[in-house]
Amino acid sequence: MNTQTSPVTLNGSTYNHTAVNHFYEDVLKGLTASPKHLDSKYFYDAIGDQLFQDLMNCEEYYPTNCELEIFSQKTEALASAIIGDNNDEFDLIELGAGDAMKSTYLLKHLLDRGVNFTYLPIDISAHVIDQLDVELTQNLPGLKFEGLNGEYFNMLSKAATLSNKRKVVLFLGSNIGNMPVAEAESFCAELRNHLSPGDMVLIGFDLKKNPKTILAAYNDKEGITKKFNLNLLHRINQELGADFVIEQFDHFPVYDPETGACKSYLISTADQMVHIADHNQSIHFQKDEYIFMEISQKFTVEQTRDMAAKTGFDVVNYLFDDKNWFADAIWKVR
Ligand SMILES: C[S@@+](CC[C@H](N)C(=O)[O-])C[C@H]1O[C@@H](n2cnc3c(N)ncnc32)[C@H](O)[C@@H]1O
Repeated sequence: MNTQTSPVTLNGSTYNHTAVNHFYEDVLKGLTASPKHLDSKYFYDAIGDQLFQDLMNCEEYYPTNCELEIFSQKTEALASAIIGDNNDEFDLIELGAGDAMKSTYLLKHLLDRGVNFTYLPIDISAHVIDQLDVELTQNLPGLKFEGLNGEYFNMLSKAATLSNKRKVVLFLGSNIGNMPVAEAESFCAELRNHLSPGDMVLIGFDLKKNPKTILAAYNDKEGITKKFNLNLLHRINQELGADFVIEQFDHFPVYDPETGACKSYLISTADQMVHIADHNQSIHFQKDEYIFMEISQKFTVEQTRDMAAKTGFDVVNYLFDDKNWFADAIWKVR
């Protein structure tokens, strides 16, 4: 049975009904759990994409600049590591591509070197994929492009049906940090299972550093991270007919230097009921009750090497920014 009907446009983004249902199911599951939580993958509607761009440009948010330094200044080393010995044609797949600002340096370098590859960005945000399609085909003439809108592993499976060429998978921006360490390890194991010996991954890890530097990145003076978190409540209001009073929630980030976990919460500043009208649901919030929003895990290099060994990868190389705040790990499937 075909469950798909015509797409709906909400908040500047286009979704099919199945996606809206998944969103509702995940929101309800999270808000009726104890403690309450929401899934950070839903941050990225058209407004969330823009807020993330603003965040990347703000003074305190260092991860983007660190990884940008690696991609803009060590492009040759990155390219040489992934091209392989016999210059074979390959698929360059990017998980959670966003605006592909950093990877564009690599794409351009590969094109200039005459390397034969196809770029397949994967993103849960349809808006992101549509924009990349327009911008990259315009700015990088000759780029072979196949945008894939959906969840990481669903789209990775789809990519495998499109070609049987060698795969090189980019997972940048410390997206892997949006999972606790054990989950990140399971993610790498699943990633490994979608790949074949000789395939490669290039994963961006944000490293442990001065705790104040880390916390400031998630608590910027302009309040962009706060808006980014609150935007998910706006999104629930708009797309699921809820009535969150946004002003009655506050943003609270914490960083634990021992575990390397930086966590963001929204705190209910009042005893209040929130209704999800489209689905006839009511959710009670006690004053000071929290919703867990996102983890941004920080790693030691040793931890990441361990992760590679445990999940079936051999380390090829690590590239760092000048401050050693961020690492791009290049691993090959064993
Ligand atoms: C933090 S941004 C990083 C963007 C880019 N990789 C960078 O380094 O600047 C995360 C991106 O991953 C996408 N994303 C998050 N969870 C996803 C999932 N489960 N499946 C596919 N895309 C996802 C978001 O839509 C967003 O564009």
